[in-house]
Amino acid sequence: MIQVFKPGLGKEEIQALTEIFETGWIGLGPKTAEFEKKFAEFTGAKYAIAVNSATAALHLSCLALGIGPGDEVLVPAITFISTAHAPSYCGAIPVFVDVDPVTLNISIEDMKRKITNKTRAVIPVHFGGHPALMSEIAEVAQEHGLFVIEDAAHACGSKYHGKSIGNLSESDTTCFSFQAVKNLPVGDGGMITTNRVELVRLLNQLRWMGIDKSTWDRTEEINDHSIRSFSEYGWYYEIQELGYKYHMNDIAATIGLIQLKKLESANERREAIARKYDQAFEGVGDIQCPVLQKNTKSSWHNYVIKTAYRDQLNLRLKEKGIATGVHYMPLHLQPFYRRQKKVVLPQAEQVWTQLLTLPLYPELKDEEIGFIISSIKEIYQQFPVTTLKKIA
Ligand SMILES: Cc1ncc(COP(=O)(O)O)c(C=O)c1O
Repeated sequence: MIQVFKPGLGKEEIQALTEIFETGWIGLGPKTAEFEKKFAEFTGAKYAIAVNSATAALHLSCLALGIGPGDEVLVPAITFISTAHAPSYCGAIPVFVDVDPVTLNISIEDMKRKITNKTRAVIPVHFGGHPALMSEIAEVAQEHGLFVIEDAAHACGSKYHGKSIGNLSESDTTCFSFQAVKNLPVGDGGMITTNRVELVRLLNQLRWMGIDKSTWDRTEEINDHSIRSFSEYGWYYEIQELGYKYHMNDIAATIGLIQLKKLESANERREAIARKYDQAFEGVGDIQCPVLQKNTKSSWHNYVIKTAYRDQLNLRLKEKGIATGVHYMPLHLQPFYRRQKKVVLPQAEQVWTQLLTLPLYPELKDEEIGFIISSIKEIYQQFPVTTLKKIA
């Protein structure tokens, strides 16, 4: 079976892990600190705080920005559930916003319509790694005094107007995912980047139970013979916040450091595969290929086509040994959120029935790509000729 997603892990990661096992330190420690430093350099952001998922990154961003009960947070309807659960964890209400049916990113027009006097923040998602319209989002956010938290779970290595996602002046924090099938996979992991120094201490404490000093920092103190009093000595710490067990560990960070070195070339390979698909599917049935905004560079986390034959294509490809996926059923249609409030979002409700995610990852072999393309072309010959209504 050709998978939809697959992490590219190899001997280098195994070698690095062997070395870390020999050090005897696998918790939050020096490898995590090194990964934070390198990731901050990579994005150009001033600060990076490593956590155990993008879900944690989104939750802590909401908390650190003071989002709480009664507040409303705007989120696009087509995304993974974490984008909406993060404000919900804080007692806030995720308000679902329709998407632009072409790019699948948040609709600026609908975002404006959904703002009330309770709105505190917006969480744009860079769907598939294709950057959302950040300048327009920031303009609306500024006008209404909203925080901007970027959900960059798909966007490791993406760029907006030449600047790396993670270092945009348009947002307060940016949340990355290093989950098993993301562009920079470590198993599970995440990162918050920010240029706002006042958030850093709080985020560091919130990710580690509200404790003011990490075990690694205290262990280093034990070896520091210049220490004068017990409160400076290794065992002493204070709990300053109602924090969470959300920190990254050095096993994940060790894999992350290797993956970070490979990220640029891995993303280039993703882009090359995406271009092959673009060319191959031109004029095939009603297929519409992904569309990027101007002045953006995508990390190409996924390749999502639109077709009226979504379900048939999914089944026929499965028969041929090719797995596909659907990203995503709109969140306002999911029972948990539907029970809370009935919302109508015409674009999201129409477009999601046409979405199909094709296999895309650096290790996808040329023969496999050829097989996927020829299979899709063959399948469309059996479908009646129709064209999807061209979306503006
Ligand atoms: C858009 C989006 N946001 C957030 C997340 C959550 O990431 P994590 O699994 O690291 O918590 C995901 C994961 O798939 C995602 O796709």
